[in-house]
Amino acid sequence: MEHNEVINRRDFLRNLGIAGAGVLAATSPWLSAFAAVNETAGERLKVGLIGPGSRGRFLLSFLLQNPKVEVVAFADIYQPSLDEALKMVPTARTYNNYCQLLADKEVEAVVVATPLNTHCQITLDAMDAGKHVYCEKTIGYTMDECFMMYNKHLEVGNIFFTGQQRLFDPRYIKAMDMIHHGTFGPITCVHAFWNRNNDWRREVPSPELEKHINWRMYKESSKGLMTELACHQLQVGTWALGKLPDKVMGHGSITYWKDGREVYDNINCIYTFPEGEMMTWGSDIANKFYGLEEQILGKLGTVEPEKGKYYFEDYVDPSPAFLKMVRDWEQKIFGDMAFAGTSWTPETAKDNPGTYLLDHTPETDGTSLNLDAFVEAVITKTQPRRIAEEGYYASILCLLGHEAIERGEIMDFPKEYYIDYPEYHTQAQTIAE
Ligand SMILES: NC(=O)c1ccc[n+]([C@@H]2O[C@H](COP(=O)([O-])OP(=O)(O)OC[C@H]3O[C@@H](n4cnc5c(N)ncnc54)[C@H](O)[C@@H]3O)[C@@H](O)[C@H]2O)c1
Repeated sequence: MEHNEVINRRDFLRNLGIAGAGVLAATSPWLSAFAAVNETAGERLKVGLIGPGSRGRFLLSFLLQNPKVEVVAFADIYQPSLDEALKMVPTARTYNNYCQLLADKEVEAVVVATPLNTHCQITLDAMDAGKHVYCEKTIGYTMDECFMMYNKHLEVGNIFFTGQQRLFDPRYIKAMDMIHHGTFGPITCVHAFWNRNNDWRREVPSPELEKHINWRMYKESSKGLMTELACHQLQVGTWALGKLPDKVMGHGSITYWKDGREVYDNINCIYTFPEGEMMTWGSDIANKFYGLEEQILGKLGTVEPEKGKYYFEDYVDPSPAFLKMVRDWEQKIFGDMAFAGTSWTPETAKDNPGTYLLDHTPETDGTSLNLDAFVEAVITKTQPRRIAEEGYYASILCLLGHEAIERGEIMDFPKEYYIDYPEYHTQAQTIAE
């Protein structure tokens, strides 16, 4: 059995195009969800989708591609969302209260893609109704909610996945494998950012629907960029470093989009780790020049998984001799400029083109695989190691950053929210008593 599992997983990962797949178990143990992917070929899982809005229907499009899934029901409080979902699955039952969907005996598992402030109650109720849950990130509106959700999963024993699709993104899996094997030396710093140049608003069919449609803009239903964007990238940082930060500070403001929104459009946070490593997270939605990235900096090299590239520090610029001469000449001019009495050379970035992490363009950003893994986990009744924990801590970290901003204080990681996750805990970070 164990032999088969290994072979199946390896074959599966080979299909993803990740070389050396056999050694990924330590870095991405949740890939074990696919261990019995061949044996489950004839199985059929009945799924209900709660909140078939924008993200929900995107998830639905992947669920419909999985032959092991039958989408049997939708629940939403907004009829246009149900109507759109029915166009994709005309045979599904529809409910305008999620509790009715949870009472539907045929539904074995639910996907929750509603606004942030509703996730917790829906997930707790779903677990109590015996359903397995895939809940979009950020999982809870408060750290307390996240803790309750994670503990409910432990208590009931149902499968619990979160929408952290980078955990299944081949670029990130490969990058983490290299990082954890020391390819880039010790990682000292992660600079993560997500910039845009738009107001992040959705069109509203009539004014009374403003808070329903633009729930991301209002404090009662969202914590803005921290819970919508940071959640993904903070998880990448802890995955790379293999540990949790113990402090965070940050600042947020409404700098450009002063349009009645309550959440910040400009944020910067610093997370610090017990051995001095740091992770910064920033987002500005009035300038998109630098886009989004997690720049993972090691003594020997740098990884940019979003770009799908890595760069070594000892890169030698192979530019033609003439260009080199011009650069040397520029360097000489600057080199001769006296700054505070010493000769100064600007440490501008090198034009290092880097190397692609994968030898092909990945077919997935991880979302489809995350869902497929959930389906496998439910069918085999096996919660993969570390998947719920990664989602839990990603949510806690973005909420902690939000709290540091709101209080204007340096926040310590609250001990009461530690869970049993030894992979990320130093000795000082013990489980809550
Ligand atoms: N993983 C990702 O990359 C990613 C990307 C986008 C959104 N998301 C997450 O997906 C979730 C939904 O985001 P969205 O952009 O689809 O929002 P949305 O507003 O487009 O859709 C939310 C849907 O939930 C419905 N809804 C609201 N309250 C409900 C309730 N109490 N019961 C049932 N239905 C209810 C709404 O009517 C709507 O149809 C959020 O948690 C968001 O953070 C994740």
